[in-house]
Amino acid sequence: MNTPQTLSKQRQKSALTLLKADHDKVKQLFKLYEKLAEKEDVAGKTAIANEICAELTAHAAAEEEVFYSAAKEKIDDDDLINEADVEHDTAKDLIAQIQIMSPTNPMYDAKMKVLDEYITHHVEEEESEMFPKAREADLDLKALGAEFTERKEELLEKVQDAQGNIDPAKLKILAVEEASHKH
Ligand SMILES: [Fe+2]
Ligand SMILES: [Fe+2]
Repeated sequence: MNTPQTLSKQRQKSALTLLKADHDKVKQLFKLYEKLAEKEDVAGKTAIANEICAELTAHAAAEEEVFYSAAKEKIDDDDLINEADVEHDTAKDLIAQIQIMSPTNPMYDAKMKVLDEYITHHVEEEESEMFPKAREADLDLKALGAEFTERKEELLEKVQDAQGNIDPAKLKILAVEEASHKH
């Protein structure tokens, strides 16, 4: 959980720095997931899968609401952002499927693997195509960064219990809700 100090430091960062940090964090979590799945550590891999799903759900929603909506106004490439939006919807569908599936189901690892590959592709496009355009556009990236962090924290709190840990039941509800909110 973020202390007020880390939150105020993040408030001064560019939205692009914060988005990239999230992308890198999830990449590491997927690597960890793979290791735990290989060891057949069901409890361990489920905890990491839940962390990945919570991170991605909060990231995608905050990114759409704060960053994509501002970028749509200032970047003259609607196709690029619309495609990214569609990719978010597909990822959310997959996350909802994972959340309603038992981790002992043989398809669970396959779905996590496809989610990993899908997110890797999506993140590459964001970082190589959208971010350079955002840097050139007339966007207040620091203000967007602050807004993004605030919204993401708000969403993460929805899936946490009183101790700040992920509550699987709350995560399932949010994941299914997000998957049904189509554009
Ligand atoms: Fe992203
Ligand atoms: Fe994204």
